[in-house]
Amino acid sequence: MPELGVNIDHVATIRQARKIDYPDPVEAALICQDSGADSIVCHLREDRRHIQDEDLYRMRKKIGVKLNLEMAMSEEIIKIALDVAPDQITLVPERRMELTTEGGLDVATHIRRVEKIARRMVRAGIRVSLFVDPRKSQVKASRDAGVFTIELHTGCYANAKNKKSSKREYDAIKQCADYAEKNGLRVFAGHGLNYSNVKPLTKIRVIEEYNIGHSIVARSIFTGLGKAVREMKALIR
Ligand code: PXP
Repeated sequence: MPELGVNIDHVATIRQARKIDYPDPVEAALICQDSGADSIVCHLREDRRHIQDEDLYRMRKKIGVKLNLEMAMSEEIIKIALDVAPDQITLVPERRMELTTEGGLDVATHIRRVEKIARRMVRAGIRVSLFVDPRKSQVKASRDAGVFTIELHTGCYANAKNKKSSKREYDAIKQCADYAEKNGLRVFAGHGLNYSNVKPLTKIRVIEEYNIGHSIVARSIFTGLGKAVREMKALIR
């Protein structure tokens, strides 16, 4: 059975819009956990646009399921990761001006650096996953870097504008997933997945885990907005 990792970054995005103390992403993570999330995912960005260091430390204390920290290959964040000791880190590329992670990590180019960081994490008992585009060269480089897990970037599949490109992106994910599995890697997938595009991917049996954030937080507005309004109306009356 594939597992679900819920990324709660965008709960913190709403909090940071006002720079106050709610909504609390840790409280959100606990709700996700109670509702069946197999892991909690968050991204401590160098610009701290959503998750803050303190969130991560509290998350580590309170969350019982796997904590998966997405992070760039930055020495500052590496030190924090080693101190917090999440169950897993996922190395992602990071660019200041991007709205969200825009592509996979170029492991093939940065293989030695990736290898070094992975070794430091593994020595501290932290599992390592690499977020890569569905390309065989990146899968092969990930294996050569000595990691055991990759997360295939599903953004191009999710953003495909028509059936033809959606099929092309789907096929790339399937081929890379099978290739990775044959090469002894565990395969996760994520980015841009939502309530209408995730199902076809579940036919790719080797994908063990889906990491999904924005669509779940977005949907919670509509599944919870009515109750929120009723509660406020009751208060003012
Ligand atoms: N996986 C990785 C590696 C990511 O960087 C992100 C976005 O932070 C996700 C999954 C979740 O993407 P989305 O918010 O589009 O579901």
